[in-house]
Amino acid sequence: MNQVRAHHQGADFCYNLPMKKFPEGFYWGAATASYQVEGNIENTDWAKAAKEDRVPPAGRLADHYNLYEKDFDIAKELGHNAHRISIEWARIEPREGEFDEAELEHYKEVLRALRARNLEPFVTLWHFTLPLWFSESGGFERKDSPEIFARYCSKVASSLEEFCHNFSTINEPNVFGSNGWLRGSWPPFKRFALTDLVSITNSGKIFEPESTKGLKPLFLYWRVMKNLALAHNAAYTAIKKNNPRLDVGVVKHVIYFHSNRNPLNILKARLANYFWTDIFMRRTYKYCDSIGLNYYFHKKFGDKEIYKKTDMDWDIYPEGIYGALQILWRYKKPLYITEAGIADAEDKYRADYITKQVEATKKALERGMDVRSHMYWSLIDNYEWALGIEKKFGLVEIDYETLERKIRPSAWIYKELIEKNSL
Ligand code: BGC
Repeated sequence: MNQVRAHHQGADFCYNLPMKKFPEGFYWGAATASYQVEGNIENTDWAKAAKEDRVPPAGRLADHYNLYEKDFDIAKELGHNAHRISIEWARIEPREGEFDEAELEHYKEVLRALRARNLEPFVTLWHFTLPLWFSESGGFERKDSPEIFARYCSKVASSLEEFCHNFSTINEPNVFGSNGWLRGSWPPFKRFALTDLVSITNSGKIFEPESTKGLKPLFLYWRVMKNLALAHNAAYTAIKKNNPRLDVGVVKHVIYFHSNRNPLNILKARLANYFWTDIFMRRTYKYCDSIGLNYYFHKKFGDKEIYKKTDMDWDIYPEGIYGALQILWRYKKPLYITEAGIADAEDKYRADYITKQVEATKKALERGMDVRSHMYWSLIDNYEWALGIEKKFGLVEIDYETLERKIRPSAWIYKELIEKNSL
């Protein structure tokens, strides 16, 4: 790749000349997460919340736990060379400190199946759902939660290291913390009512139990966010102690906050980025070999434009992934796009959405950012948390009655792009 060095605002940037192709070895693929696709996981905080009718029940879903080979065959057929999964903590550690070797064996089989199809595995060790014993005893409000989490992560990473090189500890700490302790729409349903004034998305039914009214949830939120950062750092340290060669990072949801030229709006965007992304990243980046980016939406302060909407009612703004990459690139670690996608049941916008995101990713590479993957969310339709199974993110449609998999047209457009390794 041809590079030109330039000085910009005092910093040393590396501008690459227009790139004909993505770098050799760039990872193209899609992602899923255990609770959203595997089916029949009953010993988690989410399963309990479903029984209490606070979130939709998950049930069998796509039965990916049994049908993963079928799904990986499709990923292969679609030209992917990488795939991101997550491990269900409650399956591996159903009781505190007791690890289920048969379930670890299951995930080894899953990784073997990926390798057999030349799909490079990316493993997220924890994607939102907690084992009941942990959530019931306080979860990440617990003082010893970082050690508990690190013990689980190092056990799994050392069991799976033969099959996988890329691990991330936590998926989207801020989404977990804000939905659980500020909005009150996800377990443990604690709510800080003033959040409504700044909330920019709908994440499900809101609960306001008497016991957690007032300022308390806000304090708990800060404690949880701090513990999550400590948990990541402890898990990183434990995993690397066993095997320094593994690549270990965190997956960060970045909302791209930007603005028009009004100084007040500029300030709002800066503060929002600081609150949403930088506080957590500053606490953890020194314990990251790489950082995963999940990008879904932006918020432009002082913006008059009317955007088309996804089925989640989010602005269609795929080009914003460039800004999100820029925000993370401040930490100067290799970046993996671990999720980026659109809920679009009719498959009207998906192909264009993906193409525009890939264009923006190419621009990021041309400007010298070290971006190494694009993994679309999601390979198959799944359980969209408190919004249930109605939101369709999949490249592949799932018929929940028959479990039939049907490839959506946009998936073939993504395949063409992957095969060209270019736009
Ligand atoms: C999460 C996924 C979720 C997706 C779409 C990300 O925040 O990691 O679990 O399904 O966004 O909302």
